[in-house]
Amino acid sequence: MTAEYQRHGTVALITLNNPPVNGMGLVTRTALVDGINKALNDDAVTAIVIIGAGKAFSGGADIKEFNSPKALAEPSLHTVILTVESASKPVIAAIHTICMGGGLELSLACHYRVATPTAQIALPEVKLGLLPGAGGTQRLPRAVGLELAVKMIVTGNPIAAEKLSATALFDAIIHHTTEDEWLKHVLAFANKVTALRPLPKIRNMKVDYPDYKAFLQSARLSVKASSEHFPAPLKCIDAIEAAITKEFEEGLQYERDLFMALLETTTSKAMRHAFFGERAASKIAGLSAATPQRHIASVAVIGAGTMGGGIAMNFANAGIAVTIVETSTAALEKGLSIIRKNYENTLKKGKLTQDQCDQRIALISGALEFAAISQADLVIEAVFEELAVKKAVFKSLDAVMKPGAILASNTSTLNLDEIAAAINRPRDVIGMHFFSPANVMQLLEVVRGKKTADDVLATIMALAKKIRKTAVVAGVCDGFIGNRMIEQLIRQAGFLLDEGCLPQQVDKAMEQFGWAMGPFRMSDLAGNDIGWTIRKRRAIKAPDMTYSKTADLLCEMGRFGQKTGAGWYDYKTGDRTAYPAAVVDNLIVKHSANIGIVRRPVDDLEIVERLVFALINEAAQILDEGIAQKASDVDIVYLTGYGFPLFRGGPLFYADTTGLSNVAAAIEKYARGLHGEAWKVAPLLLRLAAQNKTFN
Ligand code: NAI
Repeated sequence: MTAEYQRHGTVALITLNNPPVNGMGLVTRTALVDGINKALNDDAVTAIVIIGAGKAFSGGADIKEFNSPKALAEPSLHTVILTVESASKPVIAAIHTICMGGGLELSLACHYRVATPTAQIALPEVKLGLLPGAGGTQRLPRAVGLELAVKMIVTGNPIAAEKLSATALFDAIIHHTTEDEWLKHVLAFANKVTALRPLPKIRNMKVDYPDYKAFLQSARLSVKASSEHFPAPLKCIDAIEAAITKEFEEGLQYERDLFMALLETTTSKAMRHAFFGERAASKIAGLSAATPQRHIASVAVIGAGTMGGGIAMNFANAGIAVTIVETSTAALEKGLSIIRKNYENTLKKGKLTQDQCDQRIALISGALEFAAISQADLVIEAVFEELAVKKAVFKSLDAVMKPGAILASNTSTLNLDEIAAAINRPRDVIGMHFFSPANVMQLLEVVRGKKTADDVLATIMALAKKIRKTAVVAGVCDGFIGNRMIEQLIRQAGFLLDEGCLPQQVDKAMEQFGWAMGPFRMSDLAGNDIGWTIRKRRAIKAPDMTYSKTADLLCEMGRFGQKTGAGWYDYKTGDRTAYPAAVVDNLIVKHSANIGIVRRPVDDLEIVERLVFALINEAAQILDEGIAQKASDVDIVYLTGYGFPLFRGGPLFYADTTGLSNVAAAIEKYARGLHGEAWKVAPLLLRLAAQNKTFN
């Protein structure tokens, strides 16, 4: 049973019990309807309480049933809601901790609602490109008023119950200390309302807001800019308006129609793909919940440079002590002072309290000797990107670290297996590839070496969750998933400069496609010298790989990007706006002439296709080689680490929606053009296209 039935005197208590958050799955819905009917048929019962077991009242739809026929099977959420609302005895929702989505829609149909002050109340459907489809847009405005309802439904963000205590949503906010006390108060409330008639119903209320048209107009304006790609917020407002302008039943039907239309949009499909992809990323073939994990109570970071400091902050933020090791007092002090400054800035912005700020800073200490960290459970190396340097560091770590410690590298391109082979405990070695700024970026590529032990991988995946990262597993190769793919995109961007584009045209086309930032603006932000160093190394390893030399010429001029005030664009002090630079445009045009290319106009479609299809083609190769475990992992890497547009669901989801045979045909076309040597259709892409299949 996932909804348990009990009698407490004359009150029937139905406890939702479907861990982890009492999702309203088919079995739960059935048990709930059975429970209500049982209570209605029992003459001794005078009131019915619906309460949640464990961590939640209800988190809403059961995500295990999403996209399955079970989601709509009877009794549907609509049927449950009608059963509750039309019950002849009072039904009370007793809400603690989490009450979201369908869980809130259920409670809105109850005759009374009581809540704990900190219970999180939300209708988050908009975050999946949808709107609440079980009466939420019709009942919530009646209960909390127009303004709050718009805020809650359009943002999807939770509000603490006590902040809604002045509204008609809650009949009582109950402060309690123990579970027994909570139940006692709830039962007392139920007994108090037993005899009251008529039963109050939110559907009978009216939304009172005389100038609702002007308010909704301004609400629409505030979401209009993004509505081309994200239609749900506007539809939410349309549905809420119906709560004012239409009869209740008519409003419900209107909400239902809008919901069904949104369900079919690519945006919602992409957002749902991202939602499930993130959850799927933590599932790793061969590992299970039973895989043992090592205990991580203390962490060390080697190197207090750009990455080391940010990496350390992640652990301090999660309450884990970190020691940073550097080679000199000056480097250490510099790194620690940047960390302090970062925290102080967050404090100034009001995002941390003074206590939190002090506690976090106190959790980070420095050392100049490896001996100082010998007892750490995990050490993450973030020194210069040079194999010899990293090998030497790992040898020193091997000599001092206690047995069972995990030795991680933040390398972005080097061969982890070679690093592991340099020491006596390769099973304890793993890659933790953070992205810059490491304390901000959500993505963590976890690199599984040939010899990485299962318990090491399981430990790092669990730890990633603790430090609030989205972890995706990658195999060992140059660049892992994300950087190996981006290299092909950047390569195409460079060729386009040689053939006829300027950086601003390429960036604009990609930004119109939906990227947060075009590749040249992105490169200016990250530092053009990073790619330069990698290309110099590649020139020895893969001398045949062609690429546009414009980026090297730019670096030879010292134009490393924002940090030097000039890169592909010009920058003014204290201003991150990218201004087109005539000197760069001249450099590009001159370079085309030097290599004998007659420049031609290139349209935006070609720009987008060449850059995005290059990503897709490399991703197909990465999948085929087993570097990525599944297509959705690639999508999550791009959505969380590279600014790929969410409404397109990631590169491989986008390929699926474009049609794989279309992608393959376009690549074949480009392979016949100038710089065609950079294209070779990935065999997996061809195989899937031939079978009319998709990546996801
Ligand atoms: P960085 O040059 O800013 O910092 C490296 C630090 O390591 C320096 O402070 C240096 O003094 C210290 N160091 C060098 N040898 C050491 C040793 N033997 N013991 C202790 N400290 C030592 O470099 P950055 O950018 O922080 O990169 C570090 C690693 O992170 C590299 O492997 C890089 O590929 C990787 N990475 C860098 C990203 C970036 O955007 N900068 C992104 C993702 C990974």
